[in-house]
Amino acid sequence: MVQLKDDSSEASEISSVTRAQVESKPLWPYVLFAVAVGLVAIGAQHLTNSTNLKIGCPFHSSSSSEEKPENPHNPTKENLPAAENSQTADYDSTLYTEDLVYGSKKKLADVYKGRVVTKLELAGHGSSSDNPWVAVLGQIYDVTAGKRMYGSGGSYHFFAGKDGSRAYSTGQFDDEGLTDDLKGMTAEQIGEVYNWINIFSKKYPFVGRLEGPFFSAEGLPSPQWRAVEDLLSELAVVETAKAELHRKYPSCNSHYDQGAGKAEVWCTEKSGGITRSWMGVPRQLHLPGENVRCACIQDSLLSDPKLKEYPDCKPDSTSCKIKL
Ligand code: HEM
Repeated sequence: MVQLKDDSSEASEISSVTRAQVESKPLWPYVLFAVAVGLVAIGAQHLTNSTNLKIGCPFHSSSSSEEKPENPHNPTKENLPAAENSQTADYDSTLYTEDLVYGSKKKLADVYKGRVVTKLELAGHGSSSDNPWVAVLGQIYDVTAGKRMYGSGGSYHFFAGKDGSRAYSTGQFDDEGLTDDLKGMTAEQIGEVYNWINIFSKKYPFVGRLEGPFFSAEGLPSPQWRAVEDLLSELAVVETAKAELHRKYPSCNSHYDQGAGKAEVWCTEKSGGITRSWMGVPRQLHLPGENVRCACIQDSLLSDPKLKEYPDCKPDSTSCKIKL
């Protein structure tokens, strides 16, 4: 269960939405809802192709449902910080790239010896500066090496010189969207924003923390930062559970021919993006709160009551034709 602190009004801005979304329901419908909201929000600005709570990119999408390639913007196990990483009181801030909490139970310590930057100073590192900086959730990176993208005329120039956290999930790249205000965002969306810290910290030098909603003038985590941190820890648990479910019931490949009113679903040893030693047979999977979907089922699970055979399809066939 996701539990947010609400020991400040800042924290409650996030928690009022997320608590309502997550406390009163089991976690899986919440995740489903969040994915749907995330898709609509991003889709309004950009084309999307999302499985697994991720920002999609048409360059990396495929019209077939079979074995989709990874999107470079997507969170992966690799870009989650290692659980053993933690901040200590005597770390060297010049070497330090923020090792945060997503995927682990670690939290930023209440001590900070690194640089604290004001909004004004950050604004001086906008797209026209020789050294553009970007900020995500109050973490600032020197993106000079990516000037082609963040400098004047670059495709992501609007991120330079500010904390546009919200837009890293929504793709709303105007003044209203480029804000550090997370109000109303789902846990999923905040996870997407956070993922950019993982990406930036691998690629660009860390500058420091931004004085603002997430960090104090001393660079110490604010209640709002703590709320984000707690949310991300819980999100990691939900994502793990979801991934396990997907490994257990990998999706089928599918081909729909709306015009002809028919479709075909089939299994391979890679369908659903899950590489495995067994192929499985197509079954309708009925998980509570989720749309019925086709899953490839291994022999040992065939008697699972959540499964239904496709009509007019042999029970041991690896492919089924469906009338729409
Ligand atoms: C919420 C939506 C999106 C956000 C927040 C976003 C953000 C970003 C950012 C910050 C970078 C620079 C990464 C770096 O510094 O290494 C980037 C690069 C890139 N993005 Fe996106 N992006 C989004 C959607 C898309 C979509 C829909 C596409 C596909 C059309 C796309 C294609 C690319 C490409 C090709 C690059 C590399 C650009 C280059 O090397 O010049 N992005 N994106």
